[in-house]
Amino acid sequence: MSIAVCPGSFDPITLGHVDVVRRALTIFDEVIVGVAQNPGKNYRFAPEERLALAESAIADLPGARVMPVHGLLADFVQDTGASAIVKGLRGAADFDAEQAMALMNRHLSGVETVFIMGDPRLAHVASSLVKDVARHGGYIDDLVPTEVAAALTRKDSDV
Ligand code: PNS
Repeated sequence: MSIAVCPGSFDPITLGHVDVVRRALTIFDEVIVGVAQNPGKNYRFAPEERLALAESAIADLPGARVMPVHGLLADFVQDTGASAIVKGLRGAADFDAEQAMALMNRHLSGVETVFIMGDPRLAHVASSLVKDVARHGGYIDDLVPTEVAAALTRKDSDV
Protein backbone atom coordinates (compact mmCIF):
# COMPACT_ATOMS: atom_id res chain seq x y z
CA MET A 1 0.00 0.00 0.00
CA SER A 2 1.70 3.22 -1.12
CA ILE A 3 0.89 6.37 0.82
CA ALA A 4 1.78 9.98 -0.02
CA VAL A 5 1.31 13.16 1.97
CA CYS A 6 0.16 16.24 0.10
CA PRO A 7 0.90 19.06 2.55
CA GLY A 8 0.00 22.72 2.57
CA SER A 9 -1.72 25.52 4.40
CA PHE A 10 -4.91 25.11 2.36
CA ASP A 11 -6.14 28.59 3.29
CA PRO A 12 -8.44 27.66 1.64
CA ILE A 13 -8.19 24.55 -0.53
CA THR A 14 -8.69 25.34 -4.23
CA LEU A 15 -9.61 23.34 -7.33
CA GLY A 16 -5.87 23.42 -8.13
CA HIS A 17 -5.12 21.52 -4.92
CA VAL A 18 -7.94 19.04 -5.60
CA ASP A 19 -6.55 18.47 -9.11
CA VAL A 20 -3.12 17.60 -7.66
CA VAL A 21 -4.64 15.20 -5.11
CA ARG A 22 -6.63 13.52 -7.90
CA ARG A 23 -3.47 13.14 -10.00
CA ALA A 24 -1.50 11.84 -7.01
CA LEU A 25 -4.13 9.12 -6.54
CA THR A 26 -3.21 7.76 -9.97
CA ILE A 27 0.28 7.04 -8.56
CA PHE A 28 -0.33 6.30 -4.86
CA ASP A 29 -2.98 4.09 -3.22
CA GLU A 30 -3.66 6.64 -0.53
CA VAL A 31 -3.10 10.39 -0.36
CA ILE A 32 -3.18 12.20 2.98
CA VAL A 33 -3.95 15.89 2.62
CA GLY A 34 -1.84 17.31 5.45
CA VAL A 35 -3.18 20.63 6.71
CA ALA A 36 -0.21 22.39 8.30
CA GLN A 37 0.50 25.57 10.20
CA ASN A 38 3.02 27.97 8.69
CA PRO A 39 3.83 30.49 11.46
CA GLY A 40 4.94 33.02 8.84
CA LYS A 41 1.40 33.21 7.45
CA ASN A 42 -1.60 35.16 8.63
CA TYR A 43 -4.42 32.73 7.91
CA ARG A 44 -7.91 33.76 6.82
CA PHE A 45 -9.37 30.46 8.04
CA ALA A 46 -8.81 28.83 11.44
CA PRO A 47 -7.12 25.40 11.41
CA GLU A 48 -10.42 23.58 12.00
CA GLU A 49 -12.07 25.53 9.16
CA ARG A 50 -9.22 24.67 6.77
CA LEU A 51 -9.52 21.01 7.78
CA ALA A 52 -13.31 20.93 7.31
CA LEU A 53 -13.14 22.65 3.92
CA ALA A 54 -10.40 20.27 2.75
CA GLU A 55 -12.49 17.30 3.92
CA SER A 56 -15.54 18.42 1.96
CA ALA A 57 -13.38 19.14 -1.12
CA ILE A 58 -11.95 15.62 -1.31
CA ALA A 59 -15.02 13.74 -0.07
CA ASP A 60 -15.64 12.18 -3.49
CA LEU A 61 -12.02 11.04 -3.98
CA PRO A 62 -11.64 7.44 -2.77
CA GLY A 63 -8.22 6.99 -1.17
CA ALA A 64 -7.85 10.60 -0.07
CA ARG A 65 -8.20 11.75 3.52
CA VAL A 66 -7.36 14.83 5.54
CA MET A 67 -5.20 15.07 8.64
CA PRO A 68 -3.76 17.99 10.60
CA VAL A 69 0.04 18.32 10.58
CA HIS A 70 1.55 19.39 13.90
CA GLY A 71 5.25 20.10 14.04
CA LEU A 72 7.64 19.05 11.33
CA LEU A 73 6.24 17.68 8.08
CA ALA A 74 9.19 15.25 7.91
CA ASP A 75 8.12 13.70 11.25
CA PHE A 76 4.48 13.56 10.17
CA VAL A 77 5.41 11.73 6.97
CA GLN A 78 7.38 9.13 8.92
CA ASP A 79 4.61 8.73 11.54
CA THR A 80 2.00 8.05 8.85
CA GLY A 81 4.17 5.51 7.02
CA ALA A 82 4.02 7.55 3.82
CA SER A 83 6.73 6.95 1.24
CA ALA A 84 6.63 10.39 -0.38
CA ILE A 85 5.55 13.99 -0.16
CA VAL A 86 3.56 15.22 -3.15
CA LYS A 87 3.54 18.84 -4.22
CA GLY A 88 1.84 20.45 -7.19
CA LEU A 89 3.74 22.80 -9.47
CA ARG A 90 2.06 25.54 -11.48
CA GLY A 91 5.32 26.82 -12.94
CA ALA A 92 8.94 27.78 -12.30
CA ALA A 93 8.13 30.12 -9.42
CA ASP A 94 6.55 27.23 -7.52
CA PHE A 95 9.62 25.10 -8.16
CA ASP A 96 11.92 27.82 -6.78
CA ALA A 97 9.89 27.91 -3.59
CA GLU A 98 9.64 24.13 -3.27
CA GLN A 99 13.24 23.12 -4.01
CA ALA A 100 14.69 24.03 -0.61
CA MET A 101 11.76 22.48 1.24
CA ALA A 102 12.12 19.22 -0.69
CA LEU A 103 15.84 19.07 0.07
CA MET A 104 15.27 19.95 3.74
CA ASN A 105 12.59 17.29 4.16
CA ARG A 106 14.90 14.70 2.56
CA HIS A 107 17.73 15.84 4.80
CA LEU A 108 15.53 15.49 7.90
CA SER A 109 13.87 12.16 7.13
CA GLY A 110 15.14 10.70 3.86
CA VAL A 111 11.68 11.12 2.35
CA GLU A 112 11.51 12.15 -1.30
CA THR A 113 9.23 14.84 -2.69
CA VAL A 114 7.39 14.05 -5.92
CA PHE A 115 6.34 17.02 -8.01
CA ILE A 116 3.21 16.88 -10.14
CA MET A 117 2.42 19.45 -12.83
CA GLY A 118 -1.10 20.65 -12.23
CA ASP A 119 -3.69 21.32 -14.90
CA PRO A 120 -2.46 24.37 -16.88
CA ARG A 121 -6.07 25.62 -16.95
CA LEU A 122 -5.70 26.09 -13.18
CA ALA A 123 -2.19 27.62 -13.27
CA HIS A 124 -3.54 31.00 -12.11
CA VAL A 125 -5.38 29.52 -9.14
CA ALA A 126 -3.66 30.35 -5.85
CA SER A 127 -5.35 30.58 -2.44
CA SER A 128 -4.01 34.12 -1.96
CA LEU A 129 -5.41 35.33 -5.30
CA VAL A 130 -8.76 33.62 -4.73
CA LYS A 131 -9.09 35.35 -1.35
CA ASP A 132 -8.32 38.70 -2.94
CA VAL A 133 -10.83 38.16 -5.75
CA ALA A 134 -13.48 37.09 -3.22
CA ARG A 135 -12.78 40.07 -0.96
CA HIS A 136 -13.51 42.39 -3.87
CA GLY A 137 -16.70 40.59 -4.81
CA GLY A 138 -15.30 38.75 -7.85
CA TYR A 139 -16.52 35.43 -9.22
CA ILE A 140 -14.73 32.46 -7.61
CA ASP A 141 -17.09 29.54 -8.26
CA ASP A 142 -14.84 28.07 -10.95
CA LEU A 143 -11.71 28.42 -8.79
CA VAL A 144 -12.67 26.65 -5.55
CA PRO A 145 -15.03 23.86 -4.44
CA THR A 146 -18.63 24.94 -3.76
CA GLU A 147 -18.26 24.80 0.04
CA VAL A 148 -15.14 26.97 -0.10
CA ALA A 149 -16.84 29.58 -2.25
CA ALA A 150 -19.70 29.72 0.26
CA ALA A 151 -17.27 29.96 3.21
CA LEU A 152 -15.33 32.80 1.57
CA THR A 153 -18.55 34.67 0.83
CA ARG A 154 -19.61 34.27 4.48
CA LYS A 155 -16.20 35.47 5.74
CA ASP A 156 -16.25 38.50 3.49
CA SER A 157 -19.76 39.46 4.55
CA ASP A 158 -18.67 39.24 8.25
CA VAL A 159 -16.22 42.12 7.93
O1 PNS B 1 0.70 26.00 1.45
P1 PNS B 1 2.03 26.43 2.01
O2 PNS B 1 1.86 27.46 3.12
O3 PNS B 1 2.99 26.90 0.96
O4 PNS B 1 2.66 25.11 2.65
C1 PNS B 1 3.91 25.17 3.33
C2 PNS B 1 4.00 24.00 4.29
C3 PNS B 1 2.85 24.06 5.28
C4 PNS B 1 3.94 22.70 3.51
C5 PNS B 1 5.35 24.11 5.04
O5 PNS B 1 5.40 25.34 5.70
C6 PNS B 1 5.53 22.97 6.05
O6 PNS B 1 5.87 21.88 5.66
N1 PNS B 1 5.25 23.25 7.35
C7 PNS B 1 5.36 22.27 8.42
C8 PNS B 1 6.60 22.59 9.29
C9 PNS B 1 7.88 22.12 8.59
O7 PNS B 1 8.08 20.94 8.39
N2 PNS B 1 8.72 23.07 8.23
C10 PNS B 1 9.94 22.81 7.49
C11 PNS B 1 9.63 22.70 6.01
S1 PNS B 1 11.04 22.22 5.06
